[in-house]
Amino acid sequence: MEILEQRIKKDGRVLGKDVLKVDSFLNHQVDPELMQAMGEEFATIFSDEKIDKIVTIESSGIAPAVFASLALHVPVVFARKNKSLTLPENVWTADVYSFTKQTTNHIMIDHRFLSAAENILIVDDFLANGQAVEGLLKIANDANANVVGVGVVIEKTFQKGRQILDERGVRVESLARIKGFENDEVIFL
Ligand code: G4P
Ligand code: NA
Ligand code: NA
Repeated sequence: MEILEQRIKKDGRVLGKDVLKVDSFLNHQVDPELMQAMGEEFATIFSDEKIDKIVTIESSGIAPAVFASLALHVPVVFARKNKSLTLPENVWTADVYSFTKQTTNHIMIDHRFLSAAENILIVDDFLANGQAVEGLLKIANDANANVVGVGVVIEKTFQKGRQILDERGVRVESLARIKGFENDEVIFL
């Protein structure tokens, strides 16, 4: 998506060898016009699929997921990261390990908001190692929901998430695909 690539070039900052900081429009401050355009792009890309609901994870997945849900006229549910010691009842759960942060998040979705045979589109901000999406796939599987695809804002093709999802036969569509960083510049695929 051209306007997204332009924005990444203009405002993205490369941190270390594999992290792109985009907190001025996606991960901290949010640009609603860009979000809206991205939501419409997801709706166009997945227009051939029957979608009942969008599913994402708090916190950075919520903005793009909400705009995709608005464009597709379906509800959106975000998995919560469970911070309490006791697990609430009647929730689907998964453990998501973050290689970037070296922490495990316990994510959950209430049974009331994800049911069997629902057709869901997963949306997230980044696809890196694929652990967040794998957690959502596990929850969808436990709930007997049907995953029609995964919509990603920024995919880093040099990390292993894409390969894991391809091997599982999951349809993945990304609005920007980054193949690497050279001299702190972003190289798109
Ligand atoms: P994975 O989900 O693809 O396995 O990614 P990984 O474990 O490597 O990343 C953990 C967290 O870091 C996720 O956010 C993910 O969205 C984010 N992330 C991964 N690569 C990048 C990057 O290059 N830039 C930025 N800005 N974020 C990246 P999270 O822990 O779920 O946190 P939240 O921000 O959604 O609350
Ligand atoms: Na995320
Ligand atoms: Na994030």
